[in-house]
Amino acid sequence: MNVTIRGRTRHFRTVAFDSGKNHVLLIEQRLLPHEFKIVPTRDFRETARAIKDMVVRGAGAIGATAAYGLAQGARAFRGNDLKRFRRHVETVYQTLKSARPTAVDPVNAMNQARVSMSAGETVAEQQALALAAAEEFANHDVQHCEAIGQHGAKLIRPGMKVLTHCNAGWLAFVDVGSATAPMYAAQAMGRKFHVYCDETRPRSQGATLTAWELAQQEISHQVIADNAAGHLMQRGEIDLVIVGSDRTLGRTGEVANKIGTYTKAVLAKRHGIPFYVAIPLSTIDWKLKSGFDIPIEQREESEVLGAWGITRRGQREYVRVANVGSGAYNAGFDVTPAELITGIITPAGIFKPPELWAKRNRLGQSEV
Ligand code: MRU
Repeated sequence: MNVTIRGRTRHFRTVAFDSGKNHVLLIEQRLLPHEFKIVPTRDFRETARAIKDMVVRGAGAIGATAAYGLAQGARAFRGNDLKRFRRHVETVYQTLKSARPTAVDPVNAMNQARVSMSAGETVAEQQALALAAAEEFANHDVQHCEAIGQHGAKLIRPGMKVLTHCNAGWLAFVDVGSATAPMYAAQAMGRKFHVYCDETRPRSQGATLTAWELAQQEISHQVIADNAAGHLMQRGEIDLVIVGSDRTLGRTGEVANKIGTYTKAVLAKRHGIPFYVAIPLSTIDWKLKSGFDIPIEQREESEVLGAWGITRRGQREYVRVANVGSGAYNAGFDVTPAELITGIITPAGIFKPPELWAKRNRLGQSEV
């Protein structure tokens, strides 16, 4: 996406790779919207830490980061012994996989890369195949998001008010985004509409990242408190909800997404407002049979008990908000049942959640 800083516009991907230095290059998302900075990770452990600490976040973006991290780790191996190399790659895989548990994209991305690598007969061949697979995942991520935009744009009519939750924008992918893709495509078709961004406590990805993206793209928007959506829906101020997902079950159509998504889906149902989920194919989990089996990331209490912001002097600071001595519960994600979802916007078209399984061949899955 194009980013304009101090009057200068340049195109950036959220995740890239410097093959000469064997570094993964990431937009440091914890600094946004106050500072735009690209940071390198120098080895696979640093890459895993960047995922864990949310330098990079969002399903597709951490999928691409994990794929590049796998290639980075594989390429750092010295020697020709294939057995030792495989053991090393397994360590790299497990380290990156354990960085964040709910999103399935990193696992899907690295599994695809490992399948590609198995065609190589030498360490050098496998190292090259790992990088090619990571580049392919990143390019597919962009293409999938563009296709989501084309299918989803028809849902956004002129004058509509659209609600989104968290950040399923280009920062959550390699480019374009999933929930934002229909917005960007509708804007390119000349349609004017308004977006409400849920603030998305505790980490405020809506207030910081989605609002920044939409501002960069000059799309009319307002940040709302997480508790405001019901009020707006009741007054006819929201026509459509589009959110992303970190893991969507291909067998049941259940959707894991940022905590608070389920609440919005219940509210949308109550008010008869269409509720759509936008996903690339890498977000589909074809194995799990129930949303209750999705690992839900439990995060630090401090995220709920306080907030990060910027001081008047431009310094990034954490302030305690909650009562000193009180603890917090901080589940990062929730699961929305299929019956609350109007449709799933995929690169292959828009489907009702229960159709995913029946259409699995079209959705790129033939062998489950
Ligand atoms: O914790 P995060 O910021 O990595 O959460 C992921 C998300 O941004 C959202 O859940 C998003 O809606 C889906 S990711 C495309």
